[in-house]
Amino acid sequence: MTIDAFTACLGFCIFTLVVTRASADCAGLTKRSIDDPVVCHEFGPVCVDNTAYMVYTRKASWLDAEQNCSSLGGTLYVMNSTKVDKMVRKFIISEYLDDLIVVTGYWTGLNDIDEEGVYRWPDGSVLESEDYSRWARNQPNNRKNSQDCVQIWKDAGYKWDDATCTKRKPYVCEYQNLGGPDGCSLYSS
Ligand SMILES: *[C@@H]1O[C@H](CO)[C@@H](O)[C@H](O)[C@H]1NC(C)=O
Ligand SMILES: *[C@@H]1O[C@H](CO)[C@@H](O)[C@H](O)[C@H]1NC(C)=O
Repeated sequence: MTIDAFTACLGFCIFTLVVTRASADCAGLTKRSIDDPVVCHEFGPVCVDNTAYMVYTRKASWLDAEQNCSSLGGTLYVMNSTKVDKMVRKFIISEYLDDLIVVTGYWTGLNDIDEEGVYRWPDGSVLESEDYSRWARNQPNNRKNSQDCVQIWKDAGYKWDDATCTKRKPYVCEYQNLGGPDGCSLYSS
């Protein structure tokens, strides 16, 4: 291959590589997989302490995302420790998920929908000031008085950022105590 041909194909070849890899990662996933003939839209699990974290690249509003998670027996992601937050972030990066879709960030379970400034997890528990957190600089800022749902924000190294709940984003669900040796056996084989 000439240098020119190589340069010309670089973008396409990287794209092809990523999509192939993503599809391969989906092979054999049946129980929770969302049908798509071209690209699989669910990735994982990341398994931490009997909890399975799954990333879904099909975009949804925060509410739809939370409903999608609960229809599968889980909730949106609770990033309640450095370990979990870091492992999910590393997974998104290592699987090149940002290259599959146009993405500003991924929905998490944290929100202040009920009461401005009081951040809660999907089970209703409050994020207290002494709890683990990783807000992006100057966040949360409730910009235009319309940001009640928290994403992990790609451009800020996946730090936390309040965003508009009706925006459609990929999202992370978690499922607890699924069984199997690691407590994370999502799929019957
Ligand atoms: C998730 O939410 C989207 C957007 O509302 C919807 O189109 C899709 O069918 C849902 N997926 C599942 C598995 O519930
Ligand atoms: C974080 O959440 C997971 C699952 O929701 C739970 O199992 C774990 O005990 C929590 N960890 C902390 C530090 O609260």
